Amino acid sequence: MNGLVYEHLHHNLKLLKLATFESILDNYLELAAKEGQATIEIIDYLIDQELQSKDARSQALRTRIAGFPVEKRLEDFKFDCQPSLDQAVIKEIASLRFIHNAENIVFLGPPGVGKTHLAIGLGIEAINAGFRVQFANASSMVEKLEKADQENRLEEKLRNLSRFHLLIIDEMGYLPFDDSGAHCFFQLISKRYEKTATIFTSNKSFGEWGDIFRDNVIASAILDRILHHCTTVNIKGDSYRLRERRRYGLVQPNSSESIQSKKQNAKVLSRSEEFSLP
Ligand SMILES: Nc1ncnc2c1ncn2[C@@H]1O[C@H](COP(=O)(O)OP(=O)(O)O)[C@@H](O)[C@H]1O
Ligand SMILES: [Mg+2]
Repeated sequence: MNGLVYEHLHHNLKLLKLATFESILDNYLELAAKEGQATIEIIDYLIDQELQSKDARSQALRTRIAGFPVEKRLEDFKFDCQPSLDQAVIKEIASLRFIHNAENIVFLGPPGVGKTHLAIGLGIEAINAGFRVQFANASSMVEKLEKADQENRLEEKLRNLSRFHLLIIDEMGYLPFDDSGAHCFFQLISKRYEKTATIFTSNKSFGEWGDIFRDNVIASAILDRILHHCTTVNIKGDSYRLRERRRYGLVQPNSSESIQSKKQNAKVLSRSEEFSLP
């Protein structure tokens, strides 16, 4: 190969930031010459490798930005441990149509039933499909929104959050929001309404969301927007952690926690079934 052309090609590939193309070029040209590959096949292969590594880098970056507290995958979720959770509903959600349609998903249920696992699993699926995702704990997110509000940066913060196709708000209701927190949260929900998708997890039924915001009027306004285009998955099964501990004999089978869990079933509710405010 002409030395000047060789240098020129490598220089240009660097300028174009085609790092993978450049790094495999020499070896691949040698191999392709031995195999007598057509020029178009060589170009096609090199560009394809570049695209694949760009996709992988972008996926890794979006995963880092998403800020998942742990890695949980949908395929690791054992549906036989939550027998009345309708797998078909989760499969439909995992088609990610709800993101394309800017709809919401709410996972309701007691601790340990897999709400966060499912939310993160869906978040990872969304990232793999090319979406931008952000995971946030409800209380710390509201704290950040309040701080931004105090610094007159709430609009900017909400604009930043609206860049995510999917926002996951975990643990709604573990801690109540004060007035300014509820106000900021309302702004966030209004901004996302019918534009971008959100997944919520909560251990409180919609009827108890008034307690989270300490104000039924604002709770109602928030729920009205969330539930307008929403699939609610109400998991009332056994805590997975408790089940595991029981399996190893660490919990008495007749403890109050296990009696309670025996009474519980998982079911998927429509909006009208669960949407009632005190
Ligand atoms: N059906 C399940 N299959 C596999 N792991 C599960 C299942 N349900 C819960 N887990 C695991 O149990 C733990 C608690 O689940 P988590 O999603 O945090 O519950 P929740 O958010 O409802 O409190 C996590 O480690 C999660 O991966
Ligand atoms: Mg959780």
